[in-house]
Amino acid sequence: MKNKYEVVVIGGGIIGCSIAYYLAKSQIEVALFEGGQIGMKTTKAAAGMLGAHSESDGDFSLFFPFARSSQLEYNRLKDELYELSGVDIGYRTGGILKLAYTEEDKLNLDLLLKQPTVKWVNHEKVKLMEPGISNDVLGGAYIADDVNVIPTKTCEAFAKSAQVLGASIFENSNVYGIEKNGSNYIVKSAKGNVEAKYIVVATGVYSNNLLQNLGITEKLSPVKGESIIVHHEKPLLQHTLFHDKSYIVPRNNRKLVIGATMIQDDWSDSISLQSVESLIKKAKVLLPSSANWKIDSFTTGLRPTTFDGHPFIGRLPEEERIFIACGHFRNGILLAPATGKMIRDLILNKEVKQEWIDAFRIDRRQTVMV
Ligand code: GLY
Repeated sequence: MKNKYEVVVIGGGIIGCSIAYYLAKSQIEVALFEGGQIGMKTTKAAAGMLGAHSESDGDFSLFFPFARSSQLEYNRLKDELYELSGVDIGYRTGGILKLAYTEEDKLNLDLLLKQPTVKWVNHEKVKLMEPGISNDVLGGAYIADDVNVIPTKTCEAFAKSAQVLGASIFENSNVYGIEKNGSNYIVKSAKGNVEAKYIVVATGVYSNNLLQNLGITEKLSPVKGESIIVHHEKPLLQHTLFHDKSYIVPRNNRKLVIGATMIQDDWSDSISLQSVESLIKKAKVLLPSSANWKIDSFTTGLRPTTFDGHPFIGRLPEEERIFIACGHFRNGILLAPATGKMIRDLILNKEVKQEWIDAFRIDRRQTVMV
């Protein structure tokens, strides 16, 4: 390890690894410190849907343009990362069917269906697309562009590609604190102290201690998500089925994800029988034949959540060269490329859309209240 880097990124989940990648791609000397192993916390538990449309929940003025730019970036990234790292991110087409079982469900899809990239498919068409689907279905919003990737592979691909481009990545290197040192900073880690001109905090829901250390009062809270993984030899589904924030995602590795619970303020990584029961019940409503599927494993992860559900991305108000990128809630995998690019552009003083700076700044709560 050198004793000085241009940028130190703290956190080796999908967000930190994407940031390290975009910085290294711009020939910036970057080191990333991860307390455990790359992509083995919240990233590991993600389903990997690039749900720019399906996760917008009517927010087509702010969330959607940012998320859509990130989603589209993956079209290019899947090849670029493979060429650099040799890691296949498991990009799977097929898209999402956001289903309606009641007139109210259908009404809730109204705004989504106004997007030119989304189309309504009626009962008959849904049954043609996915014959096993419950007969109660009225129809659904079909979103071909909401593809999926394998989160751990994507994180690994970002990390390895960043290394190929010159980034240094240190695992099992917890960061204890940040101190000012003249015009630079000292990052205190389990691997020793290192100096940096710029720092990026990307430790997801585990960012609170560092934020406090930096004098920031905002806190991240967890929304635990538990999922069931199913292994299959023959394909069981062509499309991701999505209803009422629950989903079944067919992946490119003979696995399906049935997810996910939403448990507020639970910091544990345990999985309860009650949660498993609720996931199975939901899966059977979507697809009755799922009752015969064989369970492979369970996953659990803590979605990092901010006070208003939007991430914190940007520089700290009092420390122009310390950046924060955390709080991506349900959409870390989807938003990783746009976040990586935004942090890179802020560090390089390149143009970033003012509405994104304003929407994601960490001190926005005060701005809103004035
Ligand atoms: N991105 C889906 C979830 O967080 O459950």
